[in-house]
Amino acid sequence: MKGLLRLADLSIEQIQDIIHYAIEFKQGLSVSYENKKMATLFFENSTRTHYSFITAMMNLGIKVIDFNSSISSLSKGESLYDTVKTFEALGMDGVVIRHPKDNYFKELETIQMPILNGGDGASNHPTQSLLDLMTIYEEFHTFKGLKCCIVGDISHSRVAHTNIEVMQRLGMEVYISGPKEFDDGAAPYIPLDEALDKVDILMLLRVQFERHKEEMHLSIEDYHRKFGITREKIKRMKPHAILLHPAPVNRGVEIADDVVECEKSRIYKQMTNGVYIRMAVISMALDGIL
Ligand code: CP
Repeated sequence: MKGLLRLADLSIEQIQDIIHYAIEFKQGLSVSYENKKMATLFFENSTRTHYSFITAMMNLGIKVIDFNSSISSLSKGESLYDTVKTFEALGMDGVVIRHPKDNYFKELETIQMPILNGGDGASNHPTQSLLDLMTIYEEFHTFKGLKCCIVGDISHSRVAHTNIEVMQRLGMEVYISGPKEFDDGAAPYIPLDEALDKVDILMLLRVQFERHKEEMHLSIEDYHRKFGITREKIKRMKPHAILLHPAPVNRGVEIADDVVECEKSRIYKQMTNGVYIRMAVISMALDGIL
């Protein structure tokens, strides 16, 4: 299949190439694909991924169709394959898909146009991870030896699962923390107190209530008291350490309101970098490199 479905399919060299290409776009590189058409097919809600892909397409001069699943033939029983095949038949040069089903793209193996994965279930979120890596690289100019702890709802998080795999390949030390009920063994668990002292990158996750089959054992108040990042906890981090969060943030749960834009936070920089990463990925897909 063409495009970008899982970061695990890319070599370290390919991942570094995407990040460097995105940095070139951030520095002003201009590339135009005025004769190309793409569609964004979001079967699950999104603000950042959805609209930064559209922004990236607009920056590249691509004509965009933004599929609206609520007024589509989905309600008449149209399958994912038939929706995607329709957009291929309409002449799209590529599509972006977000879908709640893990590995939805396995149903699309005969599709010829590039597919860019905007997130599948709790499994993959390749462009989110790439923008996280770009933000880390801009800060530290390396990956090797950096220590990162991902805190929160690990077991339901495609961001955590994608980042843990690629960060380990890049030579980073990756830990997880937060409520033990969300520890799925994806990386070594450390208590949050230890993470605050130890890491270069603290990555917070939203509690993804919409994916829970059972209720969380902690109240929101207890979660915030035990695992929420407050000004007091920020002060305990290393001077050079940074705070990441894929967002949307749940203010007052995993993050205190006044920490969202604090000096250590790179949350809005991550969103800005997401446009450049998506420009790079789209350009490489349209050029046949991905
Ligand atoms: N980070 C992220 O994927 O956010 P959205 O769900 O708003 O796209």
